[in-house]
Amino acid sequence: MQFQCLPLDLAAVRDGWRGDCLAVGLPARPETDPAATVAISEPDHPHWAILHDWFGEGLLQRLERRQFKANPGECLTLEQLEGSPATLVLVGLGPASELDGAGLRSAAASAAKAAVAAGADSLALAMPIEGLERATAARAMAEAVRLSLYSDQRFKGEPEPQRLLERIDLIGCGADGETALQAAAASCAGVELARQLVAAPPNIATPQHLADTASRLASEHQLELRVLERIDCEALGMGAYLAVAQGSNLPPKFIHLIYRPAGPVQRRIVLVGKGLTFDSGGYNLKTAGSQIEMMKYDMGGSAAVLGSARAIGEMRPEGVEVHWIVASCENMISGGAVHPGDIVTASNGKTIEINNTDAEGRLTLADALVYACKLEPDAVVDLATLTGACVIALGEEIAGLWSNHDGLADQLLAAGQAGGEDLWRMPLRKSYKAGLKSPVADLKNTGPRPGGSITAALFLQDFVGKGLPWAHLDIAGTVWSDKGRGADPAGATGFGVRTLVNWICGGAHA
Ligand code: BES
Ligand code: MN
Ligand code: ZN
Repeated sequence: MQFQCLPLDLAAVRDGWRGDCLAVGLPARPETDPAATVAISEPDHPHWAILHDWFGEGLLQRLERRQFKANPGECLTLEQLEGSPATLVLVGLGPASELDGAGLRSAAASAAKAAVAAGADSLALAMPIEGLERATAARAMAEAVRLSLYSDQRFKGEPEPQRLLERIDLIGCGADGETALQAAAASCAGVELARQLVAAPPNIATPQHLADTASRLASEHQLELRVLERIDCEALGMGAYLAVAQGSNLPPKFIHLIYRPAGPVQRRIVLVGKGLTFDSGGYNLKTAGSQIEMMKYDMGGSAAVLGSARAIGEMRPEGVEVHWIVASCENMISGGAVHPGDIVTASNGKTIEINNTDAEGRLTLADALVYACKLEPDAVVDLATLTGACVIALGEEIAGLWSNHDGLADQLLAAGQAGGEDLWRMPLRKSYKAGLKSPVADLKNTGPRPGGSITAALFLQDFVGKGLPWAHLDIAGTVWSDKGRGADPAGATGFGVRTLVNWICGGAHA
């Protein structure tokens, strides 16, 4: 798919653009005129007037008959039999004043899907982006088009050919769009890698597979890689991580990938991802209704982290050194598996009573965070499909964000928003720490059910160096979409990559 920015307006497209499909974003008419749908005697956005001029009264009558009101999510395909464009796609945007990056992304995704459904090879995308920064808009549209057309046929005996667009022209985006398009391409490649890792079944996406993926990234994008084996982790005293890993026949792999910029380093950041390639729950076995068959996606944090490495390896930002860490393993049952009630010692010396083997993610992250903090970074961010409680709290469209640092939290919120990924800040309520008190050890791994995503975050905080800016993203709800939404087709979403990439490359830092 070849993207380009064309500094034209819609009127100029009429005279100068030749291709299969033209998609036009249309803001709804102002609410002050409730009777009007598309009676266009008084057009409010120039797009309406240009279309009127171009296709005549007949078009507007058709829109009226189809009751097209230009509400967000409305998308109408009009096929003409001859001429260029052969297909006209009209995408509703709702009130112009409310159009933001998220609205633009979902409109661009609808347009791309409609164009492909109409059999187009080339698409001109004309969105009313006057109120938005041009380069930002170009990036958002390019990402949405590419990501919405993604399909994963790897495990089909007879794959259906993926239907893509050969050429996408972003109308109204200027010459400065080139850099934005390059960034979009790198970031999409990262999202796609994350989606592939998450969607791959647990017999394929094993800890070894994650390590192999990291190794491929290292050689293709000049990154440094260390993979710690079980004995290396033993030597470092990672008793919490290894307790989770001990029930599986597959050896754990502790992955540490590094990007070093060419020039001087101004900041060092560490990204940590939960990498449970399968979570059976262990002896606190997952029961009916707990979606055990979906627990292949319990490595969604590690997928986001490796996806961001894919993108950063290509973008090569200046001044920032990035470390990616994944303590990967499986949570399984066997004669050697951890017992409910076992007491283990993490690499910072803290003892943990494992009162529930299904709260395993935080045990692996505990040792990963201790390791991360030893690198003396300026900030640590972890991503994890950590708790069902977070899914209950925020649903499938919003990830939870916990942080001990307001500046870092704000940067991540902004980076997420710029990338079309929604985060919601949650409290690190100190008094809830009482829920993790153990009569026998320094703490236990599971607190009471109420506020379960908060106690999980508080547990993690115990393994973060004092005063070090840290943020935790619980992506349990957002990593997978059953039905698909906007630029996310049904299945793995690759959530987290765009937030991380925008945060690392965005300039604003803790
Ligand atoms: N991987 C799960 C969390 C999860 C649940 C992710 C549902 C996605 C969807 C995690 O390891 C887990 O099992 N958490 C438990 C914690 C509990 C035992 C305190 C949970 O959320 O039920
Ligand atoms: Mn679990
Ligand atoms: Zn888990």
